[in-house]
Amino acid sequence: MTSSPGSAARGSGGQNDPAARARELRRRLEHHNHRYYVLDDPEISDAEYDSLLGDLRDLEARHPDLQTPDSPTQRVGATPLARFEPARHLQPMLSLANARNEEELRAWLVRSERLLNKDGVPDAEIRFVTEPKVDGLAISLLYEDGVLTRGATRGDGETGEDVTQNLRTIKAIPLRVDGAPRLLEVRGEAYLPRAAFAKLNEERAAAGEPTFANPRNSAAGSIRQLDPQLAAARPLSVWCYSIGALDGLDFGSHLESLEWLRAHGFKVNPDVERHESLDQVVGACRAWEARRESLDFEIDGVVVKVDDLDLQRRLGVVGREPRGAIAWKFAPMTATTTLTRVAWNVGRTGHMVPFAQLEPVQVSGVTVKLATLHNEEDLKRKDVREGDEVIVMRAGDVIPQVVSPTSKAQRNRSRGPVPEPPPQCPACGTPTVKPEGGVWTICPNRASCPGQIFQAVKHFVSRGAMDIEGLGEKQAERFLSDGLIGSTAGIYELDAEKLLSLEGFGEVSARNLLDAIGRSKAQPFHRVLYGLGIPGIGFVNARALTRQFRTMDALLTASPEEIEETPGIGPVLAQTIAETLSEDATRALIDRLRGHGLSLEEEGPADDAGEGPLTGKTFVLTGALPGLTREEAAERIEAAGGRVTGSVSSNTDYVVAGEDPGSKLVKAEKLGTEVLDESGLLGLLDG
Ligand code: IVH
Repeated sequence: MTSSPGSAARGSGGQNDPAARARELRRRLEHHNHRYYVLDDPEISDAEYDSLLGDLRDLEARHPDLQTPDSPTQRVGATPLARFEPARHLQPMLSLANARNEEELRAWLVRSERLLNKDGVPDAEIRFVTEPKVDGLAISLLYEDGVLTRGATRGDGETGEDVTQNLRTIKAIPLRVDGAPRLLEVRGEAYLPRAAFAKLNEERAAAGEPTFANPRNSAAGSIRQLDPQLAAARPLSVWCYSIGALDGLDFGSHLESLEWLRAHGFKVNPDVERHESLDQVVGACRAWEARRESLDFEIDGVVVKVDDLDLQRRLGVVGREPRGAIAWKFAPMTATTTLTRVAWNVGRTGHMVPFAQLEPVQVSGVTVKLATLHNEEDLKRKDVREGDEVIVMRAGDVIPQVVSPTSKAQRNRSRGPVPEPPPQCPACGTPTVKPEGGVWTICPNRASCPGQIFQAVKHFVSRGAMDIEGLGEKQAERFLSDGLIGSTAGIYELDAEKLLSLEGFGEVSARNLLDAIGRSKAQPFHRVLYGLGIPGIGFVNARALTRQFRTMDALLTASPEEIEETPGIGPVLAQTIAETLSEDATRALIDRLRGHGLSLEEEGPADDAGEGPLTGKTFVLTGALPGLTREEAAERIEAAGGRVTGSVSSNTDYVVAGEDPGSKLVKAEKLGTEVLDESGLLGLLDG
């Protein structure tokens, strides 16, 4: 017998009684499965779990008669199905009426109370429960004498499809429930966590397969795989939200039934709440909306239910919708529209930036006509063409973006050609070039292309760089077009007289702006270096370079090989950085900034990483985080003692991935590096 950590911790399983030992192993595996997949709070390592599972497999192989269908070894069935059998529901699976805004929600709440009041129920006895409306696939789980005997999709509400084989692969679903009544039907929403959804789409795009439009489709696509091995490969989970058919147990209130489910091993959202008043209900809905983007699963609204099950029954069903519940739907974050044209801008480092002109469409309450396509590489990866029907997404303050063409557009054989970058810079007309070995086409007129200068100024004054309050995109554009400044350094040559010559500037606003400009001179060296907008020097690399070289002069005299010694900077990037730093235009700009007194030396001790919970840990950031800018995330990691580098290697402890993560995520997965989302990072920071 092996002596693994798992087997070392064996209880009184009865070494000589294989049946008792199998029971004991199963009990422990179920316990740890529940800790990991339902409570998200494991007690043992993956290796220890695998070792226990291995022990049970061995035992069952030696004693096939001991194998039971509810054994943890039996989650993934062996044979693919030819088709799914129909599954008739014991009770219809109804749908929910929608409230599109607060007014409609309040109207429903008031109407429910009024109907019940008429029935003699006082307000004080009417309570409501709020739950996240998870955007996944509705499922029904049937337990007979505590054993999962059937898992089905909703279908038309009367008859769904029997997807038992696939639902059994979802580890958050118990195969056996101790203390269950004779008959129990649990309903819930199966979903693919956000990160898994993004990754799946990325892999499908890379393999030339159509991507999923939303998490619901991806969950449905996974659950409707005929081969359970394929379904098992998708890390689906579930939130259980109600009990359907039931025999042998009775509940007075909905919340009570959810608490019973939770206590019996089902995954029920911990933030489901009961409320006494309408205002509390509305407050809870708003709170869910505010949290929406920080959750690791997608929600498209909040479900509000009358808590008392008898009152729910009394309210009845109209059509297919129970009157005792309603879904308050958020404005959707994605929408489908037609991409009419791919146009191009020039970015601050000279590369051609594609953007989409769209048929105007409402996305989370805002009309969107333009959306970013990020860069040439991303455009190719997404395979977006003019005339395609596309999915557009808007999240928080982030610029709207084109997610992908719809699968319908991808199937269209007579699509337009792949859009190519323009032969001439759209801002200055200079012929564009694609540097050898590079992936992006650029405008080589770095020194005097007005498009690049505008982007450079905008970047220099931005929050992560010099953070000059009162000098935003609009002012930058005006100063440049009115000739008040000719480049970034010109900002420090502005005076009251120049500003007062512009309409809209008075004594006070001019003074405030000049003060803000003056204050920015105290920004640390790494922000200045980042603000220069040199290709390859993002915030994280600026931090790494100033740590490595300490002064601008040391960096300016460094060879590409020396630059390459900086953590996170590889040979290609080191070469680009060295070349750009040696250009006359860069040198001239640095000299002017030096003349204005900006800091070109790092202050403080050589190793200024703070002491904290992340001391000794190295992070890489990729993709847009929902709540933090990249600079904020980097600063917070460093303040907690961690290091942030620009590329993933075997030294990386964590990769923090947001929306649209790039190749860094793929590399992390290859290396087995732990991947966190924003809430995971915040959890570590709090630790
Ligand atoms: S209760 C009477 N609760 O929303 C209807 N549904 O049309 C019973 N959904 O596809 C549904 N989260 O799968 C309920 N917390 C939740 C839910 C939820 C998501 C889905 C459900 C169905 C749709 C309702």
